[in-house]
Amino acid sequence: MAILKVGVIGSGLMGSGIAQVSAQAGFATVVREVSPALLDKGLGSVFKFMQSGVEKGKVSPLDLDRVRENLKGTTELKDVADCDLVIEAVPESLELKRQLWGELDGICKPGAIFASNTSSLSITEMSTFVKRPERFIGLHFFNPVPLMKLVEVIRTLRTDPAALQAAQAWCVAIGKTVVNCGDSTGFVVNRLLVPYMIDAVRLYEQGIASRDDIDNAMRLGCGYPMGPLFLGDYVGLDTTLSICEIMFNEFREPRFAAPPLLRRMVLAGLHGRKSGHGFYDWSTTPPR
Ligand code: 3HC
Repeated sequence: MAILKVGVIGSGLMGSGIAQVSAQAGFATVVREVSPALLDKGLGSVFKFMQSGVEKGKVSPLDLDRVRENLKGTTELKDVADCDLVIEAVPESLELKRQLWGELDGICKPGAIFASNTSSLSITEMSTFVKRPERFIGLHFFNPVPLMKLVEVIRTLRTDPAALQAAQAWCVAIGKTVVNCGDSTGFVVNRLLVPYMIDAVRLYEQGIASRDDIDNAMRLGCGYPMGPLFLGDYVGLDTTLSICEIMFNEFREPRFAAPPLLRRMVLAGLHGRKSGHGFYDWSTTPPR
């Protein structure tokens, strides 16, 4: 069950990063987006990141050539028909994913492995959208995808071990370390990370410490690369809220309940880096 060609559905932050690392590792990769404008934006971010990597001496011009050669963009779903692995990285709407996977199931070759990059939706539920649940897994990447070394590989009760093994081997081939996990909401990383991040919001909301003191505490006291409020902005406060809500619905534990401030900020359009403002003002470099 060798993986030679990879399809990525969605060229947002995660999809474009996944497509980049796949192409950079030498896999023929097709990334599909719904409109030419969004596709240009996604591919643009890949080449901007690669170019800055070349300038920093972290990426060789050969890597850049390899990505140019291996990475193709499309707005047509049928262009992933001959892919061995199809990874979905579209917005976290179960309805959207239901429709997409139904279509892909009819288009893609029977042996193709299907993977979702969802951060919190149920892989098992998504596997019921296709007629090949035994070939359905989760491949959860981390932001920024080209720099973060981890992929959580999620199996369901029905996943075929051979499909799982092939996907694990592909993750290793693209330079990632694999963590295996059963299908439980939040998997390993978000199950541990999100309660920590929202506890930081609660500390701030209760006026116990300032934004900078909370972030400095965890950066300088624990050696974390980013403080929890900065990280919330970085991954998106809307994304963080949505993960909290899904985890709270699943486990009904107060530690997963979204703090009112987080909800208010998202309602007010303060989504963090992607919207320009969150706990930080992202219109300047560095954010302040
Ligand atoms: N191409 C290649 N390499 C690059 C690069 C580029 N364009 N830009 C930077 N790099 C390299 C740098 O050269 C450096 O390499 P070195 O360590 O060998 O010197 C390394 O990447 C780090 O880059 P910088 O020094 O420029 O930046 P930082 O040191 O500030 O690190 C970071 C940036 C890696 C993003 C770090 O801040 C970090 O790890 N932050 C935490 C991110 C995190 O927690 N992500 C997970 C979020 S949760 C998630 O995604 C799950 C979802 O479901 C919500």
